[in-house]
Amino acid sequence: MYPLLDENYWLSRYQQNEIGWDAGEATLPLKQYLDQLLDYRVEILIPGGGNAHEAAYAFDKGFENVHVLDIAKAPILQFRERHPEFPKAHLHHQNFFDHHGEYDLILEQTFFCALAPNLRNDYVNKMAQLLKPQGKLVGVLFDVDFGKEGPPFGGNKDLYEAVLSEGLELLMLEPCYNSIAARAGREFFFMAQRKDVT
Ligand SMILES: C[S@@+](CC[C@H](N)C(=O)[O-])C[C@H]1O[C@@H](n2cnc3c(N)ncnc32)[C@H](O)[C@@H]1O
Repeated sequence: MYPLLDENYWLSRYQQNEIGWDAGEATLPLKQYLDQLLDYRVEILIPGGGNAHEAAYAFDKGFENVHVLDIAKAPILQFRERHPEFPKAHLHHQNFFDHHGEYDLILEQTFFCALAPNLRNDYVNKMAQLLKPQGKLVGVLFDVDFGKEGPPFGGNKDLYEAVLSEGLELLMLEPCYNSIAARAGREFFFMAQRKDVT
């Protein structure tokens, strides 16, 4: 059995600086995705954002509506200190599943793998709820079976395709060609869209 992955668990990971997932800067796949967007007014959410380097990158580029959400307060407070110019109302100390909002774009990076596997369908359904019509969930997913009680919890192409397609329209899921070195050959880049309501 894996540990109870509640707020205390994640807070203590930050307090003990056990944050091996943190790339220290915005990662190339997400940077390059953001770089080709033309509309800087899109509403962006980064759930399980942690130190949220991608949020800082997007904000510094000129994206006006970037939101960061995390169940652990420490990284949110530290982000606030590092980026006093970032709108405080866009920093959410909250459980993802309790969040309400409407976004054009939600960025995924090492959040899916942090959730207990029994929450995967809930994750997809919540993403669908949070996306505006034609809104997209975009990011990276590990192509790794970590083979441990987790987190991180890994997966493979078939699994991700099945889970994401349950609640979203999967646009693409391919081996990621621009991963950071530590993840090269070990992750997928994917895009999924809110299903059209008929
Ligand atoms: C593996 S870390 C990834 C952090 C960040 N995305 C990164 O790439 O550096 C997972 C993050 O998800 C947060 N988290 C876990 N469960 C959550 C939940 N139910 N709601 C919101 N955040 C959660 C943790 O506190 C942690 O910051």
